[in-house]
Amino acid sequence: MSTPKTPVAAGSTDAGPTAGPDVPAEAFAAEYSIRPVPPAGPVDTTAICNTPAALEELDALWKAVVHETRTRGNDIHLPISLAYAERLCRAYPDADAELVRVATLLHDTGWAHVDESRIISEGFTGDWRKAAIRYEHEQQGCNVARRVLPELGYAAEFVERVCDIIDGHDTRQVARSLEDALMRDADRLWRFDRAGISLASSWFAMDPATYTDRLATEIVPELITQAAVDMATADLNRSNALLKTGVIR
Ligand SMILES: [Fe+2]
Ligand SMILES: [Fe+2]
Repeated sequence: MSTPKTPVAAGSTDAGPTAGPDVPAEAFAAEYSIRPVPPAGPVDTTAICNTPAALEELDALWKAVVHETRTRGNDIHLPISLAYAERLCRAYPDADAELVRVATLLHDTGWAHVDESRIISEGFTGDWRKAAIRYEHEQQGCNVARRVLPELGYAAEFVERVCDIIDGHDTRQVARSLEDALMRDADRLWRFDRAGISLASSWFAMDPATYTDRLATEIVPELITQAAVDMATADLNRSNALLKTGVIR
């Protein structure tokens, strides 16, 4: 596997307001100072079902986490996010694609190991990004990665780089590497597809028009890469037309 061009945090805790400087995040911000980050490769803005994730390469890993996919729509969210992650890796060929793909596939598996009754009550209301259950699902996701990856032959150093991305993917505000950034964008992009709108609007108890309005005003500005902005914009236009959100509101 290739070495990432930007440092990945050795420590894996969220940098709170009293913590010191987040050195990897500052290094990434300095190296990729133009935002959204311009693509270096081709950007595919067609519907995501045109380019599913590679069919066989990660099948053993999928099989190892089938149980974890049965919580919180992960069996919809994770495969679609992986398809977006692979597109992003083609647009940013400097990224370690294997790291992005494995981190994306596993990032939310921890939801299967937290109190399910708290997922909606805490995870999608109020300041949901800072809810305790968000931290718990990140920690549990790292536990899943450390359990399943070694037995599939992944090196210990690679597993820890995966965990560095999983830990903080929701609760830390900033990315610490290009790979971290691509996983974060893939995690947001799935919401712009019709399947993501269908599932996530119900989690947030919003009608589709309200939800797609929120995608445009709140989620697009959070995207780190220009490729993700282009994909999100194209998806949102398609989804709004399909769901007739201009009329049904
Ligand atoms: Fe998450
Ligand atoms: Fe996610």
